[in-house]
Amino acid sequence: MSYGLLKGKRGIIFGALDENSIAWKTAERVHEEGGSFVLTNAPIAMRMGTINQLAEKTGAAIIPADATSLEDLEKLVSESVEVLGGKLDFVLHSIGMSVNVRKGRSYTDQKYDWTAKGWDVSAGSFHKVMQVLYKQDVMNEWGSIVALSYMAAQRVFPDYNDMADNKAFLESIARSFGYFFGRDKKVRVNTISQSPTPTTAGKGIKGFDGFISYAEKMSPLGNASALDCANYTLSLFSDLTRKVTLQNLFHDGGFSNMGVSDAVMQAFEEQQNT
Ligand SMILES: NC(=O)c1ccc[n+]([C@@H]2O[C@H](COP(=O)([O-])OP(=O)(O)OC[C@H]3O[C@@H](n4cnc5c(N)ncnc54)[C@H](O)[C@@H]3O)[C@@H](O)[C@H]2O)c1
Repeated sequence: MSYGLLKGKRGIIFGALDENSIAWKTAERVHEEGGSFVLTNAPIAMRMGTINQLAEKTGAAIIPADATSLEDLEKLVSESVEVLGGKLDFVLHSIGMSVNVRKGRSYTDQKYDWTAKGWDVSAGSFHKVMQVLYKQDVMNEWGSIVALSYMAAQRVFPDYNDMADNKAFLESIARSFGYFFGRDKKVRVNTISQSPTPTTAGKGIKGFDGFISYAEKMSPLGNASALDCANYTLSLFSDLTRKVTLQNLFHDGGFSNMGVSDAVMQAFEEQQNT
């Protein structure tokens, strides 16, 4: 269903790799709601993924950028304003990667140059994106910037590894930069803390299958899908949420406030009786 929520709005969407990506679903929904945007991803992801199909479907231009490179970001932002024909109303940062996770190094055995790389990609890049947007003064008043997070920023999920620290940093950047963006440009900055979702990044976490089933059983509404996340993101890009800023917003079917559920208790009781 389309509500025309983003009619006439312009933006940049980072992180659509393939059709499972949260950014992919968001791009499709933004398009349906009348928004126009530039799609961007790391040059290497352009070769691995299928972003061209998404660009065709949504009439979007693609401008590659490594989100850790200020030079790439400066070019991306100025070219986007040109291509879209005006200042921006929304930006989605949907980027995450840990080299320690990818290479199977545990939290207690990190290789610190990998830790630094993962931090730069997953958290530092959010500061860089916002600094470039701020300095180039390309956000319209009442614009909205959203990044995606995960609850391991607050609670322990051992296999989430150094990504937990990256997400805590990301959420802090949203608050800190959000202050300046709100004060100086009337722009909102928030993070959405999303349920586990079967994407390339999600499935890279050890034990993901068990964990996603556990979260499903724990959450009174069940896990939020990538499409659910896209819809929630749209609400934050729309004019209906103008005074929401500096927040980390849980979008997880209720998981974050649960202690235990009947379904999880039942699974343990069944196990004990066998
Ligand atoms: N999947 C989950 O379970 C889950 C849960 C909560 C939050 N998130 C977050 O959602 C966001 C999107 O991830 P996803 O699950 O859609 O997976 P995904 O793998 O589809 O997306 C991750 C994206 O990050 C991009 N990326 C990596 N390095 C980059 C760089 N240097 N420059 C630019 N882009 C780069 C990748 O190319 C990819 O498009 C991430 O921040 C992730 O941590 C995911």
